[in-house]
Amino acid sequence: MNGNGNGHAVPSFEGSYIVFELTNLCNLRCKHCIQQYDIHPHTDDGGFLDPAIFYAALEDMERHGLTFHTLILFWIGEPLMHPKFAELYRFVLEFNARAKVFRKVEVHTNGNLLRPAVRDLATNDTDSIFQVWHCTIDAARPDTYVGIKGKNDFALVEANVRELVKLRAEKRSLYPKLVFQFIVHESNAAEAPDFLARWRGECESQGLDCGVAAFHPVFDRDNCVFFRQLDCLDAAEQEASNTRYVELMRSLGLVGEDRRSIVERLRSKILTPNTHTCSGFFKSPVVNWDGRVTTCTRDNEMVNVLGDLRSETFHDVWWRNQKLAAWRQQAIDGSYRDLSICQDCIIPKSANYTNMTKAEVKAYRRWSSRAV
Ligand SMILES: C[S@@+](CC[C@H](N)C(=O)[O-])C[C@H]1O[C@@H](n2cnc3c(N)ncnc32)[C@H](O)[C@@H]1O
Ligand code: SF4
Repeated sequence: MNGNGNGHAVPSFEGSYIVFELTNLCNLRCKHCIQQYDIHPHTDDGGFLDPAIFYAALEDMERHGLTFHTLILFWIGEPLMHPKFAELYRFVLEFNARAKVFRKVEVHTNGNLLRPAVRDLATNDTDSIFQVWHCTIDAARPDTYVGIKGKNDFALVEANVRELVKLRAEKRSLYPKLVFQFIVHESNAAEAPDFLARWRGECESQGLDCGVAAFHPVFDRDNCVFFRQLDCLDAAEQEASNTRYVELMRSLGLVGEDRRSIVERLRSKILTPNTHTCSGFFKSPVVNWDGRVTTCTRDNEMVNVLGDLRSETFHDVWWRNQKLAAWRQQAIDGSYRDLSICQDCIIPKSANYTNMTKAEVKAYRRWSSRAV
């Protein structure tokens, strides 16, 4: 529990994370991403997060004793495109050594801009925070890569990631833990075994250990090849994606449970309306590149805007906000009356989702009854 500045402790939740979108711009057009659309409200206007907003938000968290398990330095765009990426990343390492607000920092990159200076920055021994970098490659063959990512950068990306592995081995650095990520599509599923062999082999040839995981990455073997479930925009597509995913994970020996029972469980969740207490309202503030804050990474049109870090403090937006208090109550009730995008949301039914437990709801209720 952390202090909220009013003498009442705010709850800290398991699996909490905060997202800062360093930029909404990207140099690829992946088929699974909204960047593929020529026109979309999230990308109609583009820009870079003002470092002053980022530094002020983190210092505000320190001042109020707020903590999040994970600091996520991207949302829809490519974070390495931020012109001050290195400065922001160094700030996180130094800040957290003192403030201990986060336990983990995550960077996901398409690998396009993993140039020597960035590779040098990433490979470090700063143990103030667990550092994870996902390289989202999604293919083992150049033609499949172009079909999914929209650009013929396969050779460049493979070379950049290979150099990152090599540098980490040469420097014998503690970090980053590397995740070689592969989102399972219909078009790439057949090459998953090659992808696993490719990146595990690359690590082993450099003397680094590398495991493999489904559903969530694991770091019991230092680095990890991670097969990620594809999140879709509608229930029918999601169901097909789940079936394909579980089938493939089973063939790779990554799920032990009966295939049908997992698919059935996921299906029964998808076809029912959303009555879950969505954890987004409690665990995962998302800061758009311009400073506006919402409750969920699915809200890429900024429908559920709670506040704006250009004019408000983070603590006020997340812990002293009447609009959010009312929305949290709706989430607890599972009603989502005023939250149209949440009514039929399929994210709480995805493998990529973090739950909200009954004990956590109780802890929140206890805090809110005292904080009024
Ligand atoms: C939008 S990307 C931004 C970061 C960076 N450009 C990248 O591609 O890694 C953030 C993360 O979401 C994942 N992602 C994007 N669309 C997805 C989808 N439909 N289903 C599952 N994961 C998705 C990406 O693979 C990446 O790990
Ligand atoms: S690289 Fe990342 S942000 Fe860019 S299109 Fe692909 S998933 Fe989206």
